[in-house]
Amino acid sequence: MKNKKIGIFDSGIGGLSILIELLKILPNEDYLFYEDSINNPYGEKSEEELFDITSNIVDYLISNDCKIIVIACNTATTSCMKKLREKYKEIIFVGTVPAIKVAYDNNYKDTILLATPYTIKSTRVEELIHDYKNNDQNIYLVSGKNLANLIDNNDQESINTLLKEILLHYKEKADSIVLGCTHYPLIADNIKNILPNCEILDGSVGVAKEVLHQLELNNIKNNSITRGNIIIKNTKSDELVTRSYEILEDMLK
Ligand code: DGL
Repeated sequence: MKNKKIGIFDSGIGGLSILIELLKILPNEDYLFYEDSINNPYGEKSEEELFDITSNIVDYLISNDCKIIVIACNTATTSCMKKLREKYKEIIFVGTVPAIKVAYDNNYKDTILLATPYTIKSTRVEELIHDYKNNDQNIYLVSGKNLANLIDNNDQESINTLLKEILLHYKEKADSIVLGCTHYPLIADNIKNILPNCEILDGSVGVAKEVLHQLELNNIKNNSITRGNIIIKNTKSDELVTRSYEILEDMLK
């Protein structure tokens, strides 16, 4: 019998930061990664637009034999995961939200949350801060407007200019930064250059562990002993697919 796949989606290459963690602990699964670059940036869309877009992607992933869907996007998770779970009761979803809990668990005192405009303003982030923030902890909300788009286009010069504009101000103040968009770990080095003393935190490892947990819990883990296939689809161009395979190969070294 053909193995069913792990479906992953994001508004572009950001999902690679989660795919790479999945490959470390679940190398023998088959993956279908759907990069929706044509609709990037998600972080500047409305909830209604995002629900339409993500519903179409979920339909695609289900009809392409996926047994679980990983929403490798903070914006899509904070905006639509609840509604997607209500609409598609037959499939398991795992999402990603900004790793504010990780900052809390590690006792950081001055944490920047860098995320898309949508995520920054979302009720989900409000709840996370309410649930996890210590009384003596400061959380600085910073919106990375257009940043995911620049990362998808690999526009390094504009990325660095924008990062300086929005982050330099926190250089002496912050001890940690939560990367609340899956695109941002791909520019961790650029961020480190601007905030050399900040610990960089993101939730990718936790998401991968949750996928493993769900596969085991539902008895749908692939027990094959050989490496699985990775299919990448990009809604904008095949060149972007080639670039993603190259980045992935680089990350796996
Ligand atoms: N990578 C996404 C996230 O985690 C979305 C970026 C965007 O398209 O705005 O939020």
